[in-house]
Amino acid sequence: MKIDLHTHILPRDWPDLDARYGYSGFVRLEHHKPCCARIMKGNEQFREISENAWDPERRIEDCDRAGVSMQVLSTVPVMFSYWAKPADALDLSLFLNDHIAEVARAFPTRFAGLGTIPLQDPDLAARELERCVRELGMRGVQIGTHVDANEHCHDPDCRNLDDRSLDVVWSAAEQLGAAIFVHPWDMLGKKRMPKYWLPWLVGMPAETCLAISCLMLGGVFERFPKLRVAFAHGGGSFPFTIGRMEHGFHVRPDLVATDNDVNPRSYLATGETPARFYVDSLVHDPDAFRLLLKLFGSRRVALGSDYPFPLGESEPGELIGALDGLSAIDKAQLLSGTAREFLGLGQI
Ligand code: CO
Repeated sequence: MKIDLHTHILPRDWPDLDARYGYSGFVRLEHHKPCCARIMKGNEQFREISENAWDPERRIEDCDRAGVSMQVLSTVPVMFSYWAKPADALDLSLFLNDHIAEVARAFPTRFAGLGTIPLQDPDLAARELERCVRELGMRGVQIGTHVDANEHCHDPDCRNLDDRSLDVVWSAAEQLGAAIFVHPWDMLGKKRMPKYWLPWLVGMPAETCLAISCLMLGGVFERFPKLRVAFAHGGGSFPFTIGRMEHGFHVRPDLVATDNDVNPRSYLATGETPARFYVDSLVHDPDAFRLLLKLFGSRRVALGSDYPFPLGESEPGELIGALDGLSAIDKAQLLSGTAREFLGLGQI
C-alpha cells in the first residue's frame, strides 16, 4: 500500500479573483486546449498544467498505474495568497477547501484532504482550520514556510513560523488533532535567482530549512508538544544543516538559544525514538534518503511525490523501493504507515 502525502490539486475553474476582490495579483487558469491549462498571474505564465491537476479520475488512473492507494490532496502553494486582504484570502480558502473536500468525499478511499488557511490573519486561519477538520472531514492543512511576503506585500513585518501571532493556529491544530504540512513558497533570495530554475532548486530547500529552524529554535515544539508537523522535500536543506545549527547552539547560545534553550539536535531521532516532526521522502538521491532515515527514523518519513509536477518523483515510491537494506516493515512504514500516523488515519 502507498499513501502519497504530497500531491497538489486545483479546481478545474474558479471565478475571476482579480475582479471578485477588486485588485490584481491572483491566479487564474487559462484552458487553451482540452488537455491543458496555463496557470497565469497577471499576464505572466506561472506554469503549464494538464488535466491530472484537476481531474480526479485521471489522477486515479495514474495512481493505479503506480500502485498508489491514496493521494493526500493540497492546493498548489501559488494559491496561498497570504499577501491578499485577509477576508479575501479566507473567501478563496473556503472555495479551495470545499473543492478538495468534495473530491475526497467522492472518492473516500483514494483521496484525503489538507486545507489551506489565510495565515496572514491567524484568528481567521484558526477558524478555517477548525471548519476544515470538523465540517469538511479534512486531516489538517498545508501552510507555507512564512507569511505575508511577496512582491505584492510592502509590509515590513513579514513573519516566519516562530512568530508568536501564529500560536493561535498551532494551538487550534493541537486541540483538533490536525496535521500541518509545511510547503515552501515565495522563495527567499528569488530576486538573485533569475536563471536556471534556481528558486525551485535552491530557494525551496532553503525556505524549508528556514521554516524548520524557526519552529525548533522558536520553541514551538516546546509550547505545543502534541502538534504534528511535516515538511516537504525531505526538509529541504535542513538535514545537512543540523550539524552547523547544533554547533552554533553550543558556541553562541546568546545568539541561537534566545527563545528556546533546547538543543535542536534533540528534536531528531535517537535510537528507537523517532524525530519530533515529519518529512516527506522527496529527495531524489539514495544517500540523501539514508541520511533522512538516520535523522528522522522511518516513523517520521512519509512517501511524498509532489504529483503532478515535474520536479516530483514520477514513479511515487521508487526511491524507497530501490533502497538496499530496508526491512519490509520499514518499507511499509515509509510507503504508508508514517502518512497514516501523521494524518491520524485509521486503517484504510
Ligand atoms: Co509540492
